[in-house]
Amino acid sequence: MAFSRSDFPIFQNHPELVFLDSTSTTQKPGYVIDGIGDFYSHTYANIHRGLYDIAQESETLYFESKRKFAQFIGKTDYKEIIYTYNANYAINLIAQTLRYNGFFTKWDKILISIVEHHANIVPWQILAWELGIELVFFSLNTDGGIDWQDFQEKYTQDVKMIVCTHVSNVTGAILGVEDIGKYKRSDTLFLVDASQSIPHIPVSPDVLLCDFLVCTAHKLFADTGLGIIWARKKLLEWLKPVFSGGGAILEVSQSQFTPATLPYTFEPGTPHISGAVSLLKALEYIEKNGWIKAMHSTEQELMSYALAGFGARSYIRLFGPVDPQKRVGVFSFTIDGVHAYDIADILAEKHICVRAGKHCAEPLSSFLGIEHSVRMSLCVYNSREDIDQFFAVLDDNFGPWVDKY
Ligand SMILES: Cc1ncc(COP(=O)(O)O)c(C=O)c1O
Repeated sequence: MAFSRSDFPIFQNHPELVFLDSTSTTQKPGYVIDGIGDFYSHTYANIHRGLYDIAQESETLYFESKRKFAQFIGKTDYKEIIYTYNANYAINLIAQTLRYNGFFTKWDKILISIVEHHANIVPWQILAWELGIELVFFSLNTDGGIDWQDFQEKYTQDVKMIVCTHVSNVTGAILGVEDIGKYKRSDTLFLVDASQSIPHIPVSPDVLLCDFLVCTAHKLFADTGLGIIWARKKLLEWLKPVFSGGGAILEVSQSQFTPATLPYTFEPGTPHISGAVSLLKALEYIEKNGWIKAMHSTEQELMSYALAGFGARSYIRLFGPVDPQKRVGVFSFTIDGVHAYDIADILAEKHICVRAGKHCAEPLSSFLGIEHSVRMSLCVYNSREDIDQFFAVLDDNFGPWVDKY
């Protein structure tokens, strides 16, 4: 089988749609949409030790989803997978859990890349304000990868944690985070934000050598409202939960409680059960079509085509690597003298969906010396025709820009 645009009902309902905004969120295959519907029609009940059939089936699906995700990242133990609301919450949960467990002391440092999404900056800034620790930003090389000299200089003895995205949601650059995993001391925790790599390239904690891996399901064909944490089991067993309550305890008295063991420890309350089912269905859909390797090669072909299109237009300033091996199909660009919102507006008039702004990565915008950029991004349901239409609108309106204005 191969991925096909016809798998995604949104394109039957909007045949004119050129959806180039998958970095923001992906469209959903019919297989996932039907899977959620079937779940609600046939199996839905709350999980957590229900004794009747559909409650048990519901719980089985919930954990099946975690098993499938573990398999997707090359792991076998579903108890290392925690579900939360999204990547933002996942990182906040990790930050607050580490604080609660006294992992940081005053003057400690967190080493963080300049490309991070706000989801992987602000939770650490909250800790910095609370605890008197410092965030130290390391820089990028000209290819949008890690500036190793800067990283090594800043990786001092007082760095207790390194946090870094695997792929930039702005430049599309694949950061060589596995090199950080190999280089880091054993007393430093290492968190990888895989929100933008998981939908594009094979990702495994065993390769990245990280302690925490975080991502968000809606960028991988699943529902919104589901974030995913993978963490080393030993770490999870050591950490006490900062949030707890129903379903996450063994026993409660008037004066105290005993937290439940894994996989319940960090998931108080009723979880997003249908979200978990949607992720199970999304991963089955990806598996049926040849897993992430097939997604990657489908996208590589489109990405090289788009890259050639950008390269041929000198009126466009593209950010990120020009080597297709060093990036995914996420392209941010500016056009001199034109506001990014105007470009996105003109594209929107032709039903071409892109994003304009700082893309929730303001420190990166400042680093690049730009106010705003336009971002177009690719997924398996895109085609060369989508890319042609996108460039045709840019050419008609801005290229060669100097002649027209
Ligand atoms: C790199 C990166 N990290 C985290 C997030 C946050 O994801 P969510 O909004 O689902 O929490 C995003 C969203 O765009 C992202 O691109």
